Amino acid sequence: MKAMVLSSSPRRDGNSAALARAFAEGLRDAGHESEIVVANDILGSFLKDCRSCRRPDGSCAIEDGFSSAFFESLLPAQGFVAASPIYWYGMSAQLKAFFDRMFCYVAASHPSSPSVVARMQGKRIGLLLSSEETYPTVSAGIVQQIQEYSRYTRSTFVGTVHGYGNSRGEIARDPRDPVARAYDFARSFFTAHATDYQIDTPRSGRVWG
Ligand SMILES: Cc1cc2nc3c(=O)[nH]c(=O)nc-3n(C[C@H](O)[C@H](O)[C@H](O)COP(=O)(O)O)c2cc1C
Repeated sequence: MKAMVLSSSPRRDGNSAALARAFAEGLRDAGHESEIVVANDILGSFLKDCRSCRRPDGSCAIEDGFSSAFFESLLPAQGFVAASPIYWYGMSAQLKAFFDRMFCYVAASHPSSPSVVARMQGKRIGLLLSSEETYPTVSAGIVQQIQEYSRYTRSTFVGTVHGYGNSRGEIARDPRDPVARAYDFARSFFTAHATDYQIDTPRSGRVWG
């Protein structure tokens, strides 16, 4: 299996980047493939108005690394893991822009939209967060958004690791050891029991065994 890990803080040596690296290492140690993509390296612009911006063949005219990250890293992967600092009680603008930019290829007006839509489905999704504040709902908005994205794309939201720190790298001093938890999360990322039932989902009535 392969997961794309999108590191979406502008700080390469920051806290969410430390979680992203630990996750990627855990995934590799579990025998999977992982690729860390740094959002700042691939995103040169927000989403524009596709109607006036698209090339005649339908491709995105914004000349940056988004299209190759989307087609070569995200779509072929079975997992997508977003690492973000909490900014203003939401995700980083980089992570939001990454989601928004997918629209260019998902929109029905793009010639490859049906195959893109098919390949966006059924992934395992994970979230890695860092923040200064620790109260439980500081992450609620982001978790909710990732849950909705997962449901919309018929994917499985496996879980979240959230660590606390403010200065860069400080997350390593969080006594709950989120860096180790991100590593462990990765090791079972593709196998952990994760459910979100519909009313008619066939199931045994028990969770374990
Ligand atoms: C623009 C900005 C907004 C922030 N907003 C919040 C916030 O709403 N809540 C919070 O707990 N921390 C907030 N922080 C602190 C960061 O979440 C914290 O420093 C985090 O560990 C940074 O992660 P990074 O090193 O991966 O960039 C903010 C920081 C910045 C720069």
